[in-house]
Amino acid sequence: MQTITVQYDHPDSGASCGLKGAWARVPSDPGPAERARSERRIRELLQERDAVIVAHYYVDGALQELARATGGCVGDSLEMARFGAEHPASTLVVAGVRFMGETAKILSPEKTVLMPDDDATCSLDLGCPADAFSRFCDQHPDRTVVVYANTSAAVKARADWVVTSSVGKDIVAYLHARGEKILWAPDRHLGAWIQQQTGADMLLWQGSCVVHDEFKADELALLSKDYPEAAILVHPESPASVTALAHVVGSTTQLIAAAGRLETDRFIVATDQGILHDMQMRYPHKHFMPAPTAGQGASCKSCATCPWMAMNSLGGIERALGSGIGSEIGSIELDAALAQAARVPIERMLKFAADAKQRVRASGDFSNDGALFKHFGPA
Ligand code: 13P
Ligand code: SF4
Repeated sequence: MQTITVQYDHPDSGASCGLKGAWARVPSDPGPAERARSERRIRELLQERDAVIVAHYYVDGALQELARATGGCVGDSLEMARFGAEHPASTLVVAGVRFMGETAKILSPEKTVLMPDDDATCSLDLGCPADAFSRFCDQHPDRTVVVYANTSAAVKARADWVVTSSVGKDIVAYLHARGEKILWAPDRHLGAWIQQQTGADMLLWQGSCVVHDEFKADELALLSKDYPEAAILVHPESPASVTALAHVVGSTTQLIAAAGRLETDRFIVATDQGILHDMQMRYPHKHFMPAPTAGQGASCKSCATCPWMAMNSLGGIERALGSGIGSEIGSIELDAALAQAARVPIERMLKFAADAKQRVRASGDFSNDGALFKHFGPA
């Protein structure tokens, strides 16, 4: 089948994504004594509220540690969705960005879903308004609509499939094999990478991640020359010129798994620097370097930090859990009909991922592990 790329410029492409406002709301470090007090109080509140923390790798290391130590999870967006849906706790505290909290609520409408700051959003979500996206879909009724998880509930409700970076390529390959043409949104780099990998016919919405869009291929090539033994790990939201230099392209969990699997002990990592906490903790004898986001002469070599992920704090978790039941701060509320519609394509993805896991288990080939096996193990 012939592969075509059709670009679509959405009407809000020049709009500001509120980046400055997000940075302005990143909480300052409260210091060790206040941090210790806050952690103790959060542990009490988690018990009182029958709650568990579901965190992403990009949030502050202290939050990741607390999530793990209290029986919660730290994962990529697929694992967060699955963990939240399967865990028996009646309250989920989602330390990440809004689409992750919304996904948890869509999958568990009976649970209370709290976020440390429910204004923590994502440039991909902001860059794909539901009404414009719906018009785009209306113009291409012959295409299967596949959206990245980094979207609002309303955009998901318009989709046939939701995917995350850990299963997007496999799901599109599956649809392509069935002869389906794809309408993809919102990340243009991830969409282009999946298209290149699968050969699928994909029409791409032109969104991007403010963090990954900044990685610079020229600077990365120079750094790689200085450290020829280093393996380059790249998240697929990065530009094509950057993924072209990668030894491994994958979701956050898949990159962490690769850091453990590969023989080398030096890595250049092109994703949000929050992930380095987990990598360094798991593999203390290995060296992890952030990939460059700046050109020569800049004062900062890499500033790959998501301002919305950085809005998550211990204080925010304590405030949300400590607020009164029924009047919680940071509680995710969704229209029931919209949530029901958005649930269908998310569950399709979860079923696909579960089936894929079974197939890998049966084949005994765990080389592309990570997202599928982290919580279950290959046995
Ligand atoms: P992962 O699902 O790979 O963790 O990605 C989520 C995300 O927002 C990356 O920027
Ligand atoms: Fe969105 Fe990028 Fe932040 Fe991930 S890192 S949440 S894609 S803005």
